[in-house]
Amino acid sequence: MSDQSVVTAMTQAVELAQNNALAAIAATKDLSAVKTLTADLNKKDSPLNTLKSDLGKLTSVDDKRTMGQLLNTASQSVNAALLTRSTELESLEISARVAREAMDLSEFTTRRKRGHTHIVTQATQRLEDVFIGLGFQIAEGPEVETDFYNFEALNMPKSHPARSEFDTMFLEYGDPNSVLLRTHTSPVQIRVMQTWQPPIYAIMPGRVFRRDTPDATHMPVFHQIEGLVIDRGITFAHLAGTIEAFTKAFFGNEFTSRLRPSFFPFTEPSAEFDIRRADGEWIELGGCGMVHPNVLISGGIDPEEFSGFAFGFGIDRMAKERHNVEDIREMYTNDLRFLRQF
Ligand code: PHE
Repeated sequence: MSDQSVVTAMTQAVELAQNNALAAIAATKDLSAVKTLTADLNKKDSPLNTLKSDLGKLTSVDDKRTMGQLLNTASQSVNAALLTRSTELESLEISARVAREAMDLSEFTTRRKRGHTHIVTQATQRLEDVFIGLGFQIAEGPEVETDFYNFEALNMPKSHPARSEFDTMFLEYGDPNSVLLRTHTSPVQIRVMQTWQPPIYAIMPGRVFRRDTPDATHMPVFHQIEGLVIDRGITFAHLAGTIEAFTKAFFGNEFTSRLRPSFFPFTEPSAEFDIRRADGEWIELGGCGMVHPNVLISGGIDPEEFSGFAFGFGIDRMAKERHNVEDIREMYTNDLRFLRQF
């Protein structure tokens, strides 16, 4: 073979070897494949290296130089391609790993559907907030009460006619008609007076029970919040002022309150209190009055030294008013379509 034809054959072989190497590099799928391929291409008997050792077979110095340069360029392009490919695969692998190891924080960023408190609970909590703001403390008493706390200690002795207003539900426990479901939160007044020392500024929210047939405005189970203040020199003016301050704090400044003479065995004098809505309509909210001396005595408090006032009103009715609920029974059917509105 003449040198010329050897050079032509070698040139083609270099091109082939280079193209094969570049194609193999492009086909690598991961870094370890690039590593293996790099090792293969650097082997003494790799196509390009074999061609390099074939240079010695050329006799012409010029041919040697031309072929040598051709082989160098080919090697350089193969090495450059190896480097590019490994960088490329490296960043692909990093982003794949980031994607794989990324924590799913979506539950913290998307709003999930969760339940919420019932409108009566919401009203109770708001009432508590307002009264705590006025300096009151919260107290609680049992739902199952004795005749003593529910009636007797509240100046309603056995044959007192006011007892019948309460449509009491008695329990079959102990002496007949001695244990009952409390008909109001007022018995908690007595329990607080017996355990706390005056000055007392307390509110007592809770569930109460009466033998009522459910209708749009009545339920046999409902909620009340009781208020009790016992201190030196407490007058009816303090009661009226507290009711007014509460009305404005809870309903807004556009609301006002009024007291109407009434009767309760456990307060003297007694009043009903109403609030006036912005549209001028009066809504009856509850009862109140100056704590009767007999009640102070039942609670172990000296009526000569202390005086006080008490009030009690229905929470369900307030929630009903606030949310314009037509029928109070709707609040207790547990229908989610109703409950979710609030
Ligand atoms: N306990 C009374 C009722 O249930 C309300 C009330 C409480 C009245 C405190 C006066 C003082 O109707």
